[in-house]
Amino acid sequence: MNRKKATIVTYGCQMNVNETAKMKKLLEENGYDIIDDIHNSDAVFLNTCTVRGGAAGKIEGKLGNLKTIKNSRNGNLIIGVTGCVAQEEKEHLLKRAPYIDIVLGNQNISQLPEIMEKILDGEIEHAVLTNNEDELPPRIDANFGDGITASVAINYGCNNFCTYCIVPYVRGRERSVPLEDIVADVRQYIKKGYKDILLLGQNVNSYGQDFTESSEIKFSKLLDEICKIDGDYWIRYVSPHPKDLTTDVLEIMAKYPEKIASNMHLPVQSGSTEILKKMNRKYTKENYLKLVDNIKDILPNISLTTDIIVGFPGETEENFLDTLDVVRKVQYENAYMFKYSIREGTPAATMEGQIPEDVKQERLLRLMEVQNESAKNISLSYVGKTVKVLVEGPSRRNEEKMTGRISENKVVIFKGDHSLKGTFVKVKIVTAKTWTLYGELV
Ligand code: 5AD
Ligand code: SF4
Repeated sequence: MNRKKATIVTYGCQMNVNETAKMKKLLEENGYDIIDDIHNSDAVFLNTCTVRGGAAGKIEGKLGNLKTIKNSRNGNLIIGVTGCVAQEEKEHLLKRAPYIDIVLGNQNISQLPEIMEKILDGEIEHAVLTNNEDELPPRIDANFGDGITASVAINYGCNNFCTYCIVPYVRGRERSVPLEDIVADVRQYIKKGYKDILLLGQNVNSYGQDFTESSEIKFSKLLDEICKIDGDYWIRYVSPHPKDLTTDVLEIMAKYPEKIASNMHLPVQSGSTEILKKMNRKYTKENYLKLVDNIKDILPNISLTTDIIVGFPGETEENFLDTLDVVRKVQYENAYMFKYSIREGTPAATMEGQIPEDVKQERLLRLMEVQNESAKNISLSYVGKTVKVLVEGPSRRNEEKMTGRISENKVVIFKGDHSLKGTFVKVKIVTAKTWTLYGELV
């Protein structure tokens, strides 16, 4: 039988990358080859994100393209929307875009093959499945393509209700995957040769809090159990919430310096205690800085990265200066910096003191300037050092060069053979730019 073709377009966070890998595997098992070309596909899925305004806007444009393609083929194209926009809009999406065939929530991915069959058989016209958002989704296998990085979701949902954030409304309440399932998945990926294991959750360090009261399983215990698996790999995780980051996690990281990557993504969001309170983050500027000191005491070589929002409702120039102060003090290797964007239905959307666009833009540029300075200084501090690099493949710009990442999550470019892909090598850093290190194999 002729195999069909499908494209999955992924937006947003690592959780979507993970869910795309699961859909990929399911589709492959059901007669589809996965390609990257919406014009030559029999089915196209948009795995969407709604966390910020920009991402949601991109999806609108793509849906328009798909509509045109579908019309030009007399309707012969299955269009599916999955991810957070599906979860948020449910059947309303079909009203807005009736040419969509499938709307599938995050908990319902495993039902994809049966729905596609029903649509192709003409048994149903559309399918909208977005229920069970407070349950654990069934465990399904995934295909992560490159064979180097595999991700494992350890908990789903979020209970924190930061006032700007839509996630708790679309991804339901926090629920943790049983420890033995996670360890089994990680073991399986390591056995298959994956070298970079990424543990995922909206708030990884509240892992296990939803288990019974007598349960002693928590995030540090999970890390400890995973690190007992033999092999040449490293583990990363995103993201911990500063309010839940306890010393036992740092101690486990110190116990396994070869196995747990020396990087922590610790979203600060704002450096102003007043704004943090309005955001419902449950820490102050001082708490956060103290936490960073504690991290650096226990893990002196760790690289810290963060997320920052500028222009949250009510943010004054003085509040913003507190954010710049934190950025200067912490010295992040990298930061994802965003202008606040209104998410309908969240408390911040209707707060007084919404900040004009030009002020947000101006603050974003000032923030970037300060942050880029520390990124550059940290990059330069690698020059002369020899680092362990996980080789990802040939550099896109120059086939003779290979690109890879270090435990601190920085990109390294060096001259090397294509056969090094997927292995760990040692590279001596010779020069550095803000985002990238350049070196020679040793
Ligand atoms: N506006 C701007 N940025 C946001 N984020 C989440 N919600 C919003 C919003 N409404 C950012 C936060 C979060 C990251 C994933 O996206 O910084 O950590
Ligand atoms: Fe959103 Fe806050 Fe939950 Fe992160 S912790 S997903 S920012 S509500």
